[in-house]
Amino acid sequence: MLENNRDVNLSGQWIAEELKLTRTAVWKAINALKADGYEVVTVPHRGYQLSMRSDRLSIQGIAPYLHSPDTARLIEVYRTLESTNKTAKEMAVAGRKEDAVIIADSQTGGRGRFGRAFHSPADKGLYISFLLRPEKLPIRKVTWITAIAALAVCDAVKLVSGQDASIKWVNDVMIGGRKVCGILTEAITDMESGSIERIVVGIGINIVSEGFPPELERIAGGLFHSTPPGSARCRLAASLINTFCSPELWPDERSLYRDYKARLMLLGREVLVHTPKESYCARAVDLDEDYHLMVETPEGERIALSSGEVSIRM
Ligand code: BTN
Repeated sequence: MLENNRDVNLSGQWIAEELKLTRTAVWKAINALKADGYEVVTVPHRGYQLSMRSDRLSIQGIAPYLHSPDTARLIEVYRTLESTNKTAKEMAVAGRKEDAVIIADSQTGGRGRFGRAFHSPADKGLYISFLLRPEKLPIRKVTWITAIAALAVCDAVKLVSGQDASIKWVNDVMIGGRKVCGILTEAITDMESGSIERIVVGIGINIVSEGFPPELERIAGGLFHSTPPGSARCRLAASLINTFCSPELWPDERSLYRDYKARLMLLGREVLVHTPKESYCARAVDLDEDYHLMVETPEGERIALSSGEVSIRM
């Protein structure tokens, strides 16, 4: 009720009547919400209101921004998890057949690519994983899912913060030269058939650009300097859910390639390529239709990169 009536005073009496509760029960519930981090203001003799500033992640907070209200039933929100990707994979292994959206306010063991950790403090980011069924996706799109995710993040960032983000191949989303989002796509395969059974797309977005540990201070950024606008995380989450839970609305093959390439920040720039074996300098020259980054070495050799990492040479 409070989420649906932000900045409106709801009298304790009215809430009690609507919910068929006593005034004391309402008062206790409001206190429980406050203890849980909701910014509920008590206005003497007038009632309670949820502040516009409140940005507590919850299903009720996300639901008003969903295009299809039915998708709310797929969402699970946790105060803290080791890793939302891990929980999504465990759900698949435990036999969940439906899609799922797992969100955590913080992660104790957030994972990045190449086995790295992903910094996931409470209240300062959105950590969300989608458990998807590949049979719902055209098979070629399975390999493009990370590209779809990166574009979905750019759209969500624009919607909530008004900023234009770019993509650092393969899947880092950047603003002003700093990484604001990382994406980790993992597949659960059937060992016998070798086919992909389920896909987990994990997205971590830094909301606030302060408070990073020293090793991230120069490379990581956030969408907002300090206090984000109210519901920022709920709106970001809803925007991503709107994209991922409606595969029928995903861009077609040509538009996806065109839009992803247009967002790439590396093309034409001198880069450092890091592979497990070596690091070398090159120029990023193109993106091929299989999303390989084409680089050209100073000797004129053209190499198609399929994974690995590329950093910008200053
Ligand atoms: C990267 O930058 O290398 C990818 C980072 C992916 C982080 C997200 S946060 C939500 C999901 N859960 C995880 O443990 N990782 C992903």
